[in-house]
Amino acid sequence: MGADKSDTLREADFATPFSTGSRLGYRKAGDEVTVSAPPQFHELAEYYDALNDRKDYRREAERLDSIVQRIGRRGGRKWLDVACGTGRHLEFLRRTYSAVGLDESPEMLRIARRRLPGVRLVRADMRTFRLKDRFDVVTCLFGAIGHLRTQSEVGKTFDNFARHLSPGGVAIIEPWIDPADFRPGMIDVRTSRSPTLTAVRCAFSVRRRDHSIIHWHFLLGQPGRGIRYCREIDTGLLLSQEELLRLMRRAGLLPRFLSRGLVAGRGLLVGVKFDANRAS
Ligand SMILES: C[S@@+](CC[C@H](N)C(=O)[O-])C[C@H]1O[C@@H](n2cnc3c(N)ncnc32)[C@H](O)[C@@H]1O
Repeated sequence: MGADKSDTLREADFATPFSTGSRLGYRKAGDEVTVSAPPQFHELAEYYDALNDRKDYRREAERLDSIVQRIGRRGGRKWLDVACGTGRHLEFLRRTYSAVGLDESPEMLRIARRRLPGVRLVRADMRTFRLKDRFDVVTCLFGAIGHLRTQSEVGKTFDNFARHLSPGGVAIIEPWIDPADFRPGMIDVRTSRSPTLTAVRCAFSVRRRDHSIIHWHFLLGQPGRGIRYCREIDTGLLLSQEELLRLMRRAGLLPRFLSRGLVAGRGLLVGVKFDANRAS
């Protein structure tokens, strides 16, 4: 499969006894397991917005816009949000930009479609998608890049982002956790409450070679529907800032790291596609 040996996880690393008993987001290929987006973005998509109710998407969209104004193509208005999820950033960005969203999960896209009437939303894999359009901005946010399995997959995905940018266009990637910041053994708990959902989400993190493995436990209570318990194991690729910058450079993007990102402690990777017309 061309994956580095150290990157190759065994099936047990992914096997997820998911209590709903419905379809798993996993496909087996020979000895290795290729994984599309974790079940959280399929079976639990309807709870995604409520579970992330403390995230300030409006403020994040404003910050992204100000970065693009500073670094991007003058007057560029075409924005592609890869792994757009339920379309929360696009809800604000579409007011200023001609926006397109792309995600692998049909369930997340179904919610995005309700939120973003008239916006083009494409179901595709970030590693392999091909669109005819070229964009002034390509974003991939909230650590979605961490769902890829290997460094070479991330490299190919960055090539793909660069392929879809106009010269001088800008890619903005919000990375998954830096290996130096990952704290194995940590237990985290979050609660959220709205008139329609009371949710408790408890996570236990371990590290396996270059991957974070997060054991999620969800209690999801809905009036009239009782309480549902689900659990899943979510595997993320831990790549350092230097490795990510190197992969961006190799994809033809002139990269820099902004330590002030969208959320505390995560930063943003910003890469500008080489523009022969502006080079002197
Ligand atoms: C943490 S969510 C982020 C969603 C959105 N960007 C946000 O900020 O709320 C990660 C998203 O990545 C998507 N995803 C995971 N792997 C993907 C892949 N290989 N190609 C496209 N989308 C993918 C999932 O379906 C999910 O919607």
